[in-house]
Amino acid sequence: MKLRCVLPCAVALLGIGIADAQSAPVSSIPHLEKRGKATQMIVDGRPFLILAGELTNSASSSMEYMEPFWPKLAAANMNTVLAAVTWELVEPEPGQFDFSLVDGAIREARRNRLHLIFLWFGSWKNADSTYTPLWVKKNPKQYPLFLAENGQSITYLSVFKEGNWTADANAYAALMRHIREVDGEAHTVIMMQVENEVGCPGGTRDQLPEAKAAFNAPAPRALMDFMAKNKEELVPEFREYWQVAGGKTSGTWTEVFGDHPMTNEIFMAWYYALYLDKVAKAGKAEYALPMYINVDLGESIGGYSAGGALPIQLNVWQQGAPGIDIIGPDIYLPNFEEWCARYDRAGNPLWIPETRGDAANLFTAVGNHAAMGFSPFGIERQTDATTPLAQAYGLLAEAAPEILEAQAKGTIKAVLLNAQHPAETVQLGNYSFAFSVGRARQPAPPATPAPGGTAAGAQPAAAGGGRGGSGVGAAQASSYAILVSTGPDDYTILGSGLQAMFNGPGGSAAAVAKLEEGAYVDGRWVPGRRLNGDDIMLNYDAPNKAIKGESGQGFRLAAGAPKALHLKIYTY
Ligand code: DGJ
Repeated sequence: MKLRCVLPCAVALLGIGIADAQSAPVSSIPHLEKRGKATQMIVDGRPFLILAGELTNSASSSMEYMEPFWPKLAAANMNTVLAAVTWELVEPEPGQFDFSLVDGAIREARRNRLHLIFLWFGSWKNADSTYTPLWVKKNPKQYPLFLAENGQSITYLSVFKEGNWTADANAYAALMRHIREVDGEAHTVIMMQVENEVGCPGGTRDQLPEAKAAFNAPAPRALMDFMAKNKEELVPEFREYWQVAGGKTSGTWTEVFGDHPMTNEIFMAWYYALYLDKVAKAGKAEYALPMYINVDLGESIGGYSAGGALPIQLNVWQQGAPGIDIIGPDIYLPNFEEWCARYDRAGNPLWIPETRGDAANLFTAVGNHAAMGFSPFGIERQTDATTPLAQAYGLLAEAAPEILEAQAKGTIKAVLLNAQHPAETVQLGNYSFAFSVGRARQPAPPATPAPGGTAAGAQPAAAGGGRGGSGVGAAQASSYAILVSTGPDDYTILGSGLQAMFNGPGGSAAAVAKLEEGAYVDGRWVPGRRLNGDDIMLNYDAPNKAIKGESGQGFRLAAGAPKALHLKIYTY
């Protein structure tokens, strides 16, 4: 095997002085900040919307494999890439560290103006321990494994052995030290994932003697006190499970939570949390980037990973692992927004570390749940710059300052329509908007030339709809929009495949004062066509619309690449 260069050579390669990096003021490190109603990622002093994608598991183990993908990822409008860093390659022999892949990823990301989030595949990846170094795998006496209920050891490291977490935390700390040394100034790396989808088979718990002793001991005081003090604020499903078991605030795990397989899961969740907290804190002591965990909701290993931070376990994980800043759901299941809502609770900021590349879901998470970012999995296989996701990323990247401001103020909403849910009324600011999916009645006119050539401006113009038309294209599976209130009568609308009419306070009739399409260039709005006539009339039937208290006016967004509109409304 080719010898990879170690720390000093990597620092030189990246052209960064260690002394400079270490003296970087703490405030300049990428960090999370509560800004009004949202918790946001701050990079180089500014809120940052993470428009990301996660590489497949083995991609970042080869610089050669990755070489063609870096520019394509940037061209697909991503601003951040999630890449695995594995314990087996970072510490191939005990105490011998090799960060050449980390350095290579940082170098290529910088060259392509991308940020990175590293995923620490340490003790566990999808519950299993396949990324531990061979010197760990081959020595289960020193690094003991999970003992299953059938008496067999399985290839998962046990959470109950100090030697396991000290070895993992030691390697992770070395990684964070190295990242600080090579990136403490440039901030290419903005966040870290600690382990990957941890957990064990549903309803079970480790049967090692230490694990059994812990299970039969009193449930931890810290957790009991928190539950007693915060009864009303607990996640409802957790509170209910506990109350049904008797609502005790002391006793063994079984006495407090009942004799039920779920009690095993709560117990395991607490001990996984303690373990990951130790790893995260060891890393933060070296370089305090934001750290999160990702959660298997039930797709990865043919069932969910019990003891992972499933919705019912949010409080347990937050109390057990205060060193973890975010609990991120990997959402591959249907009902995307329901999962967003279940993780947009208990003070947990929403960050979606893994999902499918669905632009409508991106808009929903950002607009309705103040998501700080979105990251479809397997991204090097989806680098076509014309996908809806790439186009949506292009638009959101340009509009990000306005979106982030609106998340902080709570002046943003999203709407998602499809065949099962073809209409929805959204109240935001002084107006209510009746969104609906329409059908294209005539083809869209040619594209408006892009002011400044941004991705958003380069998209085709809105479908004309024709006289009396209700028309927007509805060929796509879902229609979606983000609505931002920018003043008492002013809105920004970003979206695709829908239309809306609106009413003022108390249902008063309202009409278009000014509607323009346009694009953001370097964060600044550059108007394109001023829309009027057929392009604002959704309903020309004057007598009927008057009876309903409507002006018949509204806006349309064609199906396809999402576009931006600025709207001013008046009432009469
Ligand atoms: C979830 C895991 O976290 C990822 O690393 C990857 O294995 C995907 N599942 C595959 O769908």
